[in-house]
This record gives sequence, structure tokens and C-alpha cells, in this order.
Amino acid sequence: MSASASTSVTVEPARRLRGRLHVPGDKSISHRYALLAALAHGRSTIAGYSAGADCRSTLGCLRALGVEIREKGGPDDSSTVVVDGLGLGGFARPAQPLDAGNSGTTTRLLAGILAGHPFDTRITGDASLRRRPMRRVIDPIERMGGCVEAENGRPPLCIRGGPLSGIAYAPPVASAQVKSAVLLAGLHAEGTTQVRENAPTRDHTERALAAFGVPVGHDDGAVTVAGGSSLSPLALSVPGDPSSAAFWAVAAAAVPDSDVTVEAVGLNPTRTAFLDVLRRAGAEVETRVTDISGGEPIGRIRIRFGELRDVAVGAGEVPGLIDELPVIGALAAHGSAVEVNGAAELRHKESDRISAFATGLRAIGIRVDERPDGFRAERDAPPPGGAVDAAGDHRLAMAFAIAALAGTGPSRIEGADVVDISYPGFFAVLDSLRA
Ligand code: S3P
Repeated sequence: MSASASTSVTVEPARRLRGRLHVPGDKSISHRYALLAALAHGRSTIAGYSAGADCRSTLGCLRALGVEIREKGGPDDSSTVVVDGLGLGGFARPAQPLDAGNSGTTTRLLAGILAGHPFDTRITGDASLRRRPMRRVIDPIERMGGCVEAENGRPPLCIRGGPLSGIAYAPPVASAQVKSAVLLAGLHAEGTTQVRENAPTRDHTERALAAFGVPVGHDDGAVTVAGGSSLSPLALSVPGDPSSAAFWAVAAAAVPDSDVTVEAVGLNPTRTAFLDVLRRAGAEVETRVTDISGGEPIGRIRIRFGELRDVAVGAGEVPGLIDELPVIGALAAHGSAVEVNGAAELRHKESDRISAFATGLRAIGIRVDERPDGFRAERDAPPPGGAVDAAGDHRLAMAFAIAALAGTGPSRIEGADVVDISYPGFFAVLDSLRA
């Protein structure tokens, strides 16, 4: 690997990948622990907090809302974050618009919380965030009696906070962010709030609420919280992010003779569907739970190369591996034809992850058939490599790097520093696995 200008990285082909490593703290869980700690009354300590820019955006917004937060640890490693929570409804009116940067999770979850605070807040972010759909959280918040103004359903959002009433809600899209926004608004509402999903999504909010002492009802797939439930501060540890581990898992599954172990990673079953796909693709996958923190199972994943096979991912599996689909698609560069259907949601991520994925993979020499709700990617021969644009999307930058390992020559990834959104140090780890 070599870097030039700050944003372009050259990725050489790989002969094999071996090693044992840790990945940054889970992004989804870091956001939730920070938000819930801020809503608890008193001091919480969060070890292993993600050093990614998205989770820093959440801390920045919370500080602007009057929450005192201290951090111990360097900017590139997961740090320990100490949050002095203000209690439910205790946030202060911010002096300026909140900057959520690139983070959809920050925007949507905070929208739910701020709808229940008695002041107006504006939330904005970068160009990618300002293209992302927010009607999916605005609709249920308005049904609760809240008011959120947006520009064509996109940020900046202006949240006019006030009294809310609990609702029973069935989101039309399978989205953990929508479920979480509604449950967090529900904490600030009169009565109970229920969310019934049409397909299960990551359940970190439910687990975290329970850890902070909020009674969470589970009834035949529906989740219920009562308004006004108070949160107790606590000490937590964030597991490594399985979505970051997925890059190394796919690389080990794809590059002959590879053997990679990721330690202390989250093994919540709502996040590990990518491992089933890798098993189907021929990899040897072992997992072992060694610990539980905040109700989240934590353990080890070991992935060894096996004979690579073609794989298909259908609609039913998509919510469980939505963030891993670009890197699963990267298997195509290594010789496994990959077909994904029922994943139109990919078009609403940090980039249009169907179109930008197809453009990027084609640039290194892979055939990609782009469809409205997915893609089919396959190679005719080992790809030559080429220059590929990360399209401002952290997961695409890393997926393209894993695809580039299959090249007969090097590939250049433009805009590669976007990996800092979730995985600062990604390219250095890649180099360490070549040793
Ligand atoms: C997330 C949920 C998913 C995922 C995103 C993080 C979360 O988004 O893609 O990276 O932390 O709840 P959706 O809720 O839009 O599916």
C-alpha cells in the first residue's frame, strides 16, 4: 500500500493473508451507548468507543446539547468515553445547528430524541447526508404529535420539539434506525410505544435500553417501551464492529491459504448473517462467544480459505447484512459469482451503493449487471486492477480494496481517506495481514 495526496491509496494484489487482530468499536453500538448515557441521570463510562468520524459526530452533537463528555485515548484507537448524562428530557437548546457529518444514524436517532425536547433544533451534515431520506423517521414522529421540517424529505431537519404520544408503528422499510428513532421518541412520549417490524433488523437499541434499566417488552416480534422510563448510568464495553471484521473475513475467504482471526468482536446474531454467506461461499468459519457486555455477545471469529463457490443473497437475508453487501460483492473479483436481490435499500446509503459499487468494480475489470434492487457480479479472468473512486463512501472504499487484492496488477483507490468514517487505520491493518 502507498498513499499519495491524502486521499489516494494503491492496493497491491495479495498472495495470502494471515493474522490475529482487533477491529474498532462497533459503530451502531457506540452511537447508542453515547445517546443513552446522555439520557441517563449521572456518569456512564463507555470503553472501546469507535474512533470513526460518525461516532465523533454523535459526541459533537451531544456536547452541543449541553452534555459533558470526556475522552481518554488517542484519536486513532477506540477510546473510553465518560458521559455525564442529563436525564430524560434534560438536553439544552443548542446555540447552533447540530452537525451530524456523514452519519445517518446520528441524524435519525437524535431526531427521535429531540422531537420530545421542548425547543427547536436544526440538524444538518455533509453533502451525502443531505441526500438521505428522512421521511421514514418524520412520518412516525409526526404521528406521535411531533413536528419535523425537511427539504424534500432530506436534511437539514428542523425539529420542533414538544409533547409526544405513544403509537403502535409498523415501519414500511426494514430499518434499525427507524425502529430506534421511534423507540427513543417513545421514551419521551406519554403512554407506550410499540414498533412491529416486517423483517428483523439489528436489535442493539433494545439490548442497550434494557442494559440502562428501561423495561423493554417483546411480544411476538414487536418491541414496546413506556414513556418516562428512567435510565440508570452504567459502565459498558463496546464490542469490535462485525461490519469492520467483515472486510477481513471476506478477504480471508477469498485469498488462497489465508487464515485470519478477529478478537473481541460483536457476535449479535442480528449482525452475523455475512458469516453464513461466507460459509456458503466455501470458507471455513468458526465463532466463539467469550463474553457479554450490555447484553451483547462478544467473541472471536476465525476465517480460513476454502474452495471459493458462487453465492446468492435474497431479500430475506438483506436486513441482516445490509452493510456487508458491498464487500460480499467483492468476492466476485476473486472468482465467485455474486448475485444480490431485494436490496433496493442500498441505493439510500452513504452513496447509491448499487450504482457506485457497479461503477467501481467495473473499473478494476469485473463484469457487473446492475439491477434496481441488486446486482450480479462475476469475472471472466483475474482482473487487471485499475483506478477506482470510493464515491465518498467508507464501505465502498474498503470493499474495493478487498476486490483489488485479486488483481494481476495494483489498483488505485481515489478518496480512500473516507475509510475514517468507520475504520481509521484500515489500510495499515491490510498491510499487516500480508506479512
Ligand atoms: C444502522 C442501521 C442500518 C445500517 C447503518 C447503521 C444502525 O441502516 O445500514 O449502517 O446503526 O441502526 P438502516 O436502519 O437505514 O437500515
